[in-house]
Amino acid sequence: MECSWKTVLLLVCASLGIQYTAIRSYSTTSFQCCPKCSETGVFELLCEDTWNSHGTFQQQTRKHIIIFATTRSGSSFTGQLFNQHPDIFYLFEPLYHVQQAFTNSSAKLKNLLDRRALLGAYRDLLHNLFDCDFYFLENYIKPVPKNHETSSFFRRGASSALCSHPVCDVSQDLHDVEEHVCAKKCKSVNLTLAAKACHNRSHMAIKIVRVPEIQDLRTLLEDPRLNLKIVHLVRDPRAILTSRIGTFTDQFRAWKIWNATRRKPHNVDLSQITTTCRDISNSAETGFSRPSWLKGRYMLVRYEDVAKEPVKKAKEVYNFIGLDWDDKVQRWVLQNTNGSAASIGNYKYTTSRNSTATAESWRLNLSFDIVQTVQALCNSTLSQLGYKLVGSVVELRNISHSLVEPRTFLPFL
Ligand SMILES: *[C@@H]1O[C@H](CO)[C@@H](O)[C@H](O)[C@H]1NC(C)=O
Ligand SMILES: *[C@@H]1O[C@H](CO)[C@@H](O)[C@H](O)[C@H]1NC(C)=O
Ligand SMILES: *[C@@H]1O[C@H](CO)[C@@H](O)[C@H](O)[C@H]1NC(C)=O
Ligand SMILES: *[C@@H]1O[C@H](CO)[C@@H](O)[C@H](O)[C@H]1NC(C)=O
Ligand SMILES: *[C@@H]1O[C@H](CO)[C@@H](O)[C@H](O)[C@H]1NC(C)=O
Ligand SMILES: *[C@@H]1O[C@H](CO)[C@@H](O)[C@H](O)[C@H]1NC(C)=O
Ligand SMILES: *[C@@H]1O[C@H](CO)[C@@H](O)[C@H](O)[C@H]1NC(C)=O
Ligand SMILES: *[C@@H]1O[C@H](CO)[C@@H](O)[C@H](O)[C@H]1NC(C)=O
Ligand SMILES: *[C@@H]1O[C@H](CO)[C@@H](O)[C@H](O)[C@H]1NC(C)=O
Repeated sequence: MECSWKTVLLLVCASLGIQYTAIRSYSTTSFQCCPKCSETGVFELLCEDTWNSHGTFQQQTRKHIIIFATTRSGSSFTGQLFNQHPDIFYLFEPLYHVQQAFTNSSAKLKNLLDRRALLGAYRDLLHNLFDCDFYFLENYIKPVPKNHETSSFFRRGASSALCSHPVCDVSQDLHDVEEHVCAKKCKSVNLTLAAKACHNRSHMAIKIVRVPEIQDLRTLLEDPRLNLKIVHLVRDPRAILTSRIGTFTDQFRAWKIWNATRRKPHNVDLSQITTTCRDISNSAETGFSRPSWLKGRYMLVRYEDVAKEPVKKAKEVYNFIGLDWDDKVQRWVLQNTNGSAASIGNYKYTTSRNSTATAESWRLNLSFDIVQTVQALCNSTLSQLGYKLVGSVVELRNISHSLVEPRTFLPFL
């Protein structure tokens, strides 16, 4: 009886256009197709049955994690707390490819873009990646991959799984090496092998910075098969802005001039930081209001708290997700929050630095009038998350007086 159900399931999955042949080589076939089948609603019960009777360790304990962040909010460092875990397959912002496919550098085109369509494509990609379907990603990669192989995989070097066997066959494992070394040595990514490596790890974590609000992920959170957990990473918007000015030099040229000359150019664009603050605030508000679709799935984490006590904070996050702590993560944290690691280089996205020192160092790097401007634009976000306002330059530059109020943000269990 059950065998024939399974057969029906597989046929249905095949007819739904899932790459059955690609999937059948893995023992977790029924697990892989269940979420898709259940989307039709019809085979839900069948799936349930197959799911339970064939549940192995992997199927029942598999965790899917999204590190939900904005650019320059400390997400590279926080992502490493997952990337370093040997059982986690970690990806660094795969949504980049979707955005690239939907638009080109023409800003006008971007504004015209239907936001809903883009968000829908983001969700689709996340869902497929959590199923280890890397062929789906090919729809968005430019240039179009040939033979399921691409040399344009965004930030592949930031994923230790994509820098080690079998995806990258170099003599030594590269995960402790810098990102650009992996990108250089490992050449192109064979997406068939990436899927294989993904299946071989028991959990998956994806860092994203392109989805504006938690609400935009609601349908994924409501899918019980996905069993998704969200780690909402926030950071002081004044620090985010400082980091963006230093990193995205073209886009923030006017801000840089303002900071250096103390005179506000007429073309300073206040909208981006305003939007960032609004999005952070709306998402946090959603989390704090504890809707049923976030129950057991949401935890807010301030980057400053991660930077201050990374091991303690990381353990709290692991505990919320239900993952065992790993010594390798601990070792990585100790090595990379130690001043000695700061000399690895000033690679633009490096996470190797004295994180305690960098979390509030923006205060020495931003003019007081810009700080005042951001405080006015973002004051409700700042107070919501426990970041103190400053009223004078002296207060701003006095690093021994922290602007991060001690706060506990309990996960929504
Ligand atoms: C972007 O798209 C527009 C409209 O299709 C086209 O005219 C323009 O050349 C494209 N720009 C780039 C950089 O691809
Ligand atoms: C990618 O890996 C698969 C599985 O090992 C292999 O069959 C395929 O030939 C590889 N593709 C390329 C383009 O090397
Ligand atoms: C799966 O993981 C094990 C150990 O974790 C490793 O020995 C094996 O090579 C991996 N296989 C693939 C296909 O990634
Ligand atoms: C301060 O800003 C400069 C210029 O953008 C940047 O090079 C430097 O790394 C920043 N320093 C800190 C501590 O943020
Ligand atoms: C921190 O760095 C020093 C050298 O700079 C090294 O001796 C020490 O072992 C490091 N500590 C940890 C925990 O990695
Ligand atoms: C890291 O920064 C903190 C805060 O500035 C400082 O107390 C500590 O000594 C630094 N650690 C190293 C190893 O430089
Ligand atoms: C802002 O200006 C100060 C003083 O000129 C400079 O030290 C700092 O690096 C600048 N910050 C940024 C982010 O460019
Ligand atoms: C934010 O600033 C506005 C205008 O200055 C003020 O009315 C409001 O009370 C402030 N909100 C908070 C939370 O400080
Ligand atoms: C800096 O802050 C500390 C702690 O709040 C305070 O004791 C000290 O007086 C402040 N220094 C100045 C120059 O304001």
